[in-house]
Amino acid sequence: MKICIIAGARPNFMKIAPIIREIKKHDNLDYILVHTGQHYDYEMSDAFFKDLEIPKPDYFLNAGSGSHARQTADIMVSFEDVCIDEKPDIVLVVGDVNSTMAAAIVAKKLLIKVAHVEAGLRSFDISMPEEINRMVTDSITDYFFITEKAAGDNLIKEGKLQKDIYFSGHVMIDNLLYQKQKLVKPDNPFFEEFKKKNNKYFFMTLHRPSNVDSKESLEEIFEALNEISQEVPFVFPVHPRTRKKLDEFKIDISENIFQLNPLGFKDSLYLWKDSSAVFTDSGGLQEETTGLGIPCFTLRENTERPVTIDEGTNTLVGNKKENILLAYNSLKNGVIKAGKIPKFWDGRAAERIVAVFNDMQALFAPLDHGGIN
Ligand code: UD1
Repeated sequence: MKICIIAGARPNFMKIAPIIREIKKHDNLDYILVHTGQHYDYEMSDAFFKDLEIPKPDYFLNAGSGSHARQTADIMVSFEDVCIDEKPDIVLVVGDVNSTMAAAIVAKKLLIKVAHVEAGLRSFDISMPEEINRMVTDSITDYFFITEKAAGDNLIKEGKLQKDIYFSGHVMIDNLLYQKQKLVKPDNPFFEEFKKKNNKYFFMTLHRPSNVDSKESLEEIFEALNEISQEVPFVFPVHPRTRKKLDEFKIDISENIFQLNPLGFKDSLYLWKDSSAVFTDSGGLQEETTGLGIPCFTLRENTERPVTIDEGTNTLVGNKKENILLAYNSLKNGVIKAGKIPKFWDGRAAERIVAVFNDMQALFAPLDHGGIN
């Protein structure tokens, strides 16, 4: 069986790494890796391949940035050629980025089965580009791999069949646990010095269009964070989209918020795992903080990952100054959400996913006919 794995943007790389590691254990499963090129800067792409020991992609589609339509269309045009040449049995997509949706549409129109890892999540906020990607991808997915029960409930409500839904757990957590156990001090002395100097600090990331594309919301967020940073400093790796907007809107940022270039996976983990709390609008960090029991304040009005709120350490704070300050004050007063590890966030999700493919072998034509016609 030949599985074509798609990755394009930063949060995809953490999810494909454990799946590829697991597939390699099975001689009867073949895979090709396609990088769409949605993210292309060294810090946004190559640094992750290196950190996460992901093999060099078989195809790099060079899609790059652009409007949503242009980026999606560029990926689709190039990926169609790959599918026609390679004839995979399954196209496996992860997450909710434009590359996920683009590849799923191409595969389905060529009658190739689509597997979606991290299926069924819904924020019910259609103004989020990722929500559209999630809905479109799941509407044409054949095999759904879910990370939490709510995702399965959403799929059933949308008319999907129970038999096609696999509760696999979370490959993001597989990757986190695998990397954490191998983590060593980064080469760059900044990280160690920062930690030594600040025994208490916060880690933050920000890149959602709803937060960073508007001057008003960026100003409001930084008014709150600047104030908090007078008591506890922040370390802030800045996403390229955010960097452009901070410069364009000339946002005032306190010197107690240490701005860094985007970090590779290991450097980032090295910092946030020992932080007092994480302030973020990322999907992945909401889950990873739950995985390690670190308090997380999500600067969004909603989340498609409710288990991080119901069972984990995540709190939805939104992007209003008053609410961000309230969240900080409650932490300061010792209110800390203990959280527990959600079901199957145990480092074995990729094993469960690949076991499903292994069991499906009989449904697909053999890879090698051994010369028999
Ligand atoms: C994308 C995903 C988002 C994910 C995020 C993680 C979609 C719709 N969004 O958002 O779900 O959380 O990745 O980063 O797929 N840029 C660079 N260098 C790069 C990549 C991007 O400078 O390597 C800049 C470009 O100016 C680009 C902008 O960042 O226009 C946004 O990149 P894009 O891939 O469109 O979306 P993200 O905001 O990164």
